[in-house]
Amino acid sequence: MIYSTITGLGYYVPEHVVTNEDLTSYMETSDEWIRERTGIQERRYFTYGKETNASMAAAASRMALERAEVTAKEVDLIVYATITPDYFFPGSGFLMQRELGMEGIGVIDIRDQCSGFVYALSIADQFIKSGMYKTILVVGAEIQSTWINKSTEGRGVAVIFGDGAGAAVVRATDDAEHRILSTHLHADGRFAEDLYVKDPGSSRPDRAATKQMVDEGGFDVVMNGNAVFKHAVVRFTEVIHEGLQANGFSPEDISLLVPHQANVRISEYVRNQLGLPEDRVISNIHKYGNTTAASIPIALTEAWEQGRVKPGDLVCLAAFGSGFTWASALIKW
Ligand code: UT7
Repeated sequence: MIYSTITGLGYYVPEHVVTNEDLTSYMETSDEWIRERTGIQERRYFTYGKETNASMAAAASRMALERAEVTAKEVDLIVYATITPDYFFPGSGFLMQRELGMEGIGVIDIRDQCSGFVYALSIADQFIKSGMYKTILVVGAEIQSTWINKSTEGRGVAVIFGDGAGAAVVRATDDAEHRILSTHLHADGRFAEDLYVKDPGSSRPDRAATKQMVDEGGFDVVMNGNAVFKHAVVRFTEVIHEGLQANGFSPEDISLLVPHQANVRISEYVRNQLGLPEDRVISNIHKYGNTTAASIPIALTEAWEQGRVKPGDLVCLAAFGSGFTWASALIKW
């Protein structure tokens, strides 16, 4: 049997730190409100001219490749998740491929929002298990800071998002004891407009940006925060149980849960539902906010660096986001 396993992890966050206090110069908000409602203390914003979605992803990927002891030439495929690509098309995966000197290999660009990394990992897992590829670079990268509305009008959305990138090297293995056990993907398009950005979409009579589109907030993130929150807590728990049941485990078997960093209150709710102690659930949202597709690989990499992911551990990744989408991956490290 061919299985897949993660052999290297990396991440990159911009140097520029934006604290909750900093945000009060753009909008009516407070450090207290943001901490209490979300758990966020600061986030990172990219610097124009220095960082791009693809360059941050390249930095994260270089780190992951080095740790996996894999050269750029050994990579067979890139699966790249982002909802904030450098260009409308082609996707940032192609730009990163160019930067890393990996010309010729396939690039699959996906979106899938906050669930993007788990979806991407699932795609990589299937390609490896089918025998088609041996080494796949899986990436999640976002620059959210430029399309959030930083006025008081947009504060419900703006305060939660940040920029960053994370990457994983996924390789073929015949070791049944250390591998990705299963992935579980779901979506419910009935809630598409509960968290979305409309423009520059093809639903308009003309794609060219008009003042009307800007005035209508077509380029802003529109979010029904309460609806997202209520669905998230249910779906996170459900999809984690699904992964556990598929492999004959129960919640107490989880060594480490790495949830998408959406809101510390969501993670806490899920942790309580599963009956897990605090030290078995990763939380770094206080430092980076919600970095969408990048949040899980950044959190997983930090956990690994801190020695919190050890061989034999049962690691669960879980995500929920726009679409709505939700997904989990269960990994025997
Ligand atoms: O990965 C998926 C991405 N999205 C999410 O995970 C979002 C999930 N939802 C959430 O995290 C929460 O809904 C939010 C953090 C976005 C909002 O928290 P909430 O507790 O649901 O607040 P709310 O939207 O119900 O707003 C409560 C009050 C309102 O004022 P009134 O109407 O009670 O006077 C808002 O205007 O808080 C006000 N408010 C703010 N005040 C200060 C909203 N945003 C802010 C802000 N600063 N940044």
